[in-house]
This record gives sequence, structure tokens and C-alpha cells, in this order.
Amino acid sequence: MEKYVMANFKMNKTDLEVEEYLNTFIPLVKDKNVKVILGVPFTSLKTAVQKAKKTDIMISAQNMNENEKGSFTGEVSAEMICGTGAECVIIGHSERRSLYGETNESVNKKILKALKSGLTSIFCVGETLYERKNQLTAEVIKKQVTDGLKSIYANELKNIIIAYEPVWAIGTGVVPMDVEIIETMKLIRSVLASIYDETIASEVVLAYGGSVNDTNCKEISKLEGVDGVLVGGASLDPKKFAKIVCAFETKK
Ligand code: PGA
Repeated sequence: MEKYVMANFKMNKTDLEVEEYLNTFIPLVKDKNVKVILGVPFTSLKTAVQKAKKTDIMISAQNMNENEKGSFTGEVSAEMICGTGAECVIIGHSERRSLYGETNESVNKKILKALKSGLTSIFCVGETLYERKNQLTAEVIKKQVTDGLKSIYANELKNIIIAYEPVWAIGTGVVPMDVEIIETMKLIRSVLASIYDETIASEVVLAYGGSVNDTNCKEISKLEGVDGVLVGGASLDPKKFAKIVCAFETKK
């Protein structure tokens, strides 16, 4: 399976900066046989889509509102994202959960809406440090995955990428031990198998996120059950991010 290397710019980069980024980045990842997805701010979706037009790079939003349209000042709908030509959307990032009150229920509504609109969801799950220290990881992840995928059919999973991002690893420079990542990926697959079945579970793309950088990416790329990565801080430099993309290259 081709690996997925995804960027989450968060609230960084003006439209002009995104354009400059792509001028540098695109030639560095040409013909790399890796699925690259860039999560840019709403304000740069259209620019990024246009810049990436003749490439295989996909452009993603970082959030969306679950409603169709209406009186939701400041919000952006799935249809609006589709209108820019973007193909993906990050849903349920831990910063959205902790800073903006998103819940498993609202995450599920957003995924359902994204699917209906033809957007691929990058669905984020992950435990806090408190939860990990108190042996609550399995329970929390199980609930996030089960509730997030409520009412979603097996044939829709091809449009969902699950990103396991332990909250304590995001932006901290701390990466879980290899065994912790492998175990949690196994856990997510077993939860998927219990909702759907083993075969379906084995086909879902599972990515790891949290302090991935251009030095640890090679080791992470080799971990069992890891189909890709979601990168925040280290994705902001096009050369560093291109290096991460190259680390995930698989032979054709
Ligand atoms: P980080 O962020 O790579 O800066 O830790 C990852 C994320 O939040 O998706």
C-alpha cells in the first residue's frame, strides 16, 4: 500500500507563504510514490489547490462545520471546502477537541457530513497524558473510534484515514516508544474489526501523528501497522517536510 504523509499547518502561513512553500515543495516530492496531503488554512485552500493541480498532492482543510449552511458566523461548510477543489478535511484534531469543545458526537456528525460531500476525512483520535498514565488509553481510543464512526458503512471507510495522535506527543518533541505506537495501531484495528470485520479493518489507512520530524520519520515509517504520518511543526518547512515524504517512499 502507498504510504500517506500528511501536513497540518494549523494557524500558520499567509496565502502568499503557502504559495511560496509550494514553489519549493512540489519539485522536491515529484514522482515519490507517496500520497501527500497538505492541511492548509481555509484562506489558502484555493491557492494550494491551484498550485498542486498538475501533481498528485491533495489539499485538505483543517476543520469544517457539520451543518449544511445557515447562521453559523465564522464557520465553513463542507460544500464551501469542496468548492475550492480541496479533497480532504481534518476532523477531531485534539486542539479542536480541547480548545473548541468538540466531542465524539460532533466529530461523528462532521465525518458523516464530509462523507456525504465527497471529502476524505482525516479523523484524529488520541489519549491525554493523564489517560495514558492511568491506563485509560484503550478505553478512550475505543470510544473515540466507535463513537466517531457511528452510522458509517464499511464501504465508506475508504474515504476515512484514522490518525492516532497521542495528545502528549503533539508539539512536545516527545514520541511514544515504538511498542506503544504499534500496540495502539493494533488496538484501533481490533476496534475496527469488531465494528466491521478483519478484512475491512486491515484496509483502513492508519497514520501516526505527534512530534514526527525529519530525523525520527524513517524509524516511524518502519513500524508495523503504520500506514503514514500526520505532521504539524515539522511540516512548516518545505525541505524538512519533503524529507519526511521521501522517508515513506515505497518501491513501485
Ligand atoms: P506536531 O503536531 O507534529 O507539531 O507534534 C502534529 C499534529 O498536531 O497533527
